[in-house]
Amino acid sequence: MALLLGIDVSTTGAKALLIDERGRVLATHTTAYPLSTPKPLWSEQAPADWWQGTVASIQAALGKANRSGDEVTAIGLTGQMHGLVMLDKADRVLRPAILWNDQRTGPQCAEITEKVGGLDRLLQLTGNQVLPGFTAPKIVWVRENEPHIFDQTTHVLLPKDYVRFCLTGEYATDVSDASGMSLLDVEHRCWSDEMLSALDIPRAWLPVCTESDVVSGHISARAAQATGLKEGTPVVGGGGDQAAQAVGSGIVTSGVISVTSGTSGVVFAHSDHYAAEAQGRLHAFCHAVPGKWHYMGVMLSAGGSFRWLRDAIGDVETTAAKLIDVDPYELLTQEAALAPVGSEGLLFLPYLTGERTPYPDPQARGAFVGLTLRHGKAHLVRSVLEGVSFGLRDSLELIKGLDVPIEQVRASGGGARSAVWRQIQADVFGAELVLVNVTEGAAFGAALLAGVGAGAYANVDEAVAATIQITDRTAPIPENTATYATLYPVYRALYPALKATFHSLPD
Ligand code: XUL
Repeated sequence: MALLLGIDVSTTGAKALLIDERGRVLATHTTAYPLSTPKPLWSEQAPADWWQGTVASIQAALGKANRSGDEVTAIGLTGQMHGLVMLDKADRVLRPAILWNDQRTGPQCAEITEKVGGLDRLLQLTGNQVLPGFTAPKIVWVRENEPHIFDQTTHVLLPKDYVRFCLTGEYATDVSDASGMSLLDVEHRCWSDEMLSALDIPRAWLPVCTESDVVSGHISARAAQATGLKEGTPVVGGGGDQAAQAVGSGIVTSGVISVTSGTSGVVFAHSDHYAAEAQGRLHAFCHAVPGKWHYMGVMLSAGGSFRWLRDAIGDVETTAAKLIDVDPYELLTQEAALAPVGSEGLLFLPYLTGERTPYPDPQARGAFVGLTLRHGKAHLVRSVLEGVSFGLRDSLELIKGLDVPIEQVRASGGGARSAVWRQIQADVFGAELVLVNVTEGAAFGAALLAGVGAGAYANVDEAVAATIQITDRTAPIPENTATYATLYPVYRALYPALKATFHSLPD
């Protein structure tokens, strides 16, 4: 039976996950590494830390599973998207990697949009707005601010692809991760010559770009010595963390959507066809499923809003939870269940850290609207859960607008843990919400892609069918869905009504 290794080069650590062909987890190990913020808005990491973390995690996972590196059939890579690694002609890393959550490139984004002829042309070329987190504005920033680094550059790589380079010696990426660079023609799944020439970035700097299930290289003798893996073991393309996570929770057919709520909330839809959202409010990226695409909306404070509420008014629940050894969020959601559906007209706007989808506005703020003397703590908690669910629905509505059906929503992350919140989400979305057996996220998806590349599965659909099952279902309750259907337009009207106020508030 094939033994598959998924590696996730995330923002917090390098994870190695070993699974067998049936999806059974044999071992997992994560090695944490630091993130530095040398200036406000900056976010950087040392690529050497990713590599050392990867080596340590591979060795530890093999040890825990009591397997030898010789037994690994194939390796799949995933990781944080958008980050910039620059190499010189001797393959030395020229400066710390600039990460996806670095915000220094606002001016470069505006410059790029203007250079290519405005937003409409940018959407035609890349399918997406250019955001400060994306890779191309980082390259332009280095040219403008660190010309001595720019002048020595011969290759640029994304985070997981730097680790691929260390494993195989190949400069390669995959279409899903490349989609977040602002340099890929997402519709045609190849580098955009027009973007490259508008930005004066040499094409020779870019890695080879393949579909996610293609073998991109083999473990080199040097990497074999460092990791304990066998020289010659195939390394497949893999995918950006969101696309790989989607493969690892079975979002590989039209109609199946995922909602992952950690601090932020990500709504992810598979699509058989390509379409850019008219204003670029949704990311339109290539999927890790060959020849398919995905749309993605990102809400900045999903679980983050609930955590804020717990910290602001949840002292009693936090103390009680410690005494009886339960999760304080569980006590808070039980309290929410005591308030009626719709929180008797109390609405919560979840923009506590600004917003990305559907309003790319760093100055957006949170708000409770509609408070009366009748409202107590249960209403406050419920309206936060409802407000976050409405915010996630905003992305679902944009997805529906691209003719992608929404038949089933797969929930994961902290927001999927509570039965009360799952019911609220099912009711607000008007769709069945399900949980799946796999909780290993992106590394699991990368391991499945490795299996496809090595021929252990015929294709991604077969890999998903062999390993992922539904474990829980929450059906929407029609009368609750009807109540939320009347409240949703009221919620929708709040941001446009309050935008000017948000922008005039002091910091
Ligand atoms: C995707 C995104 C994050 C990063 C870090 O667009 O910004 O998912 O990849 O996890």
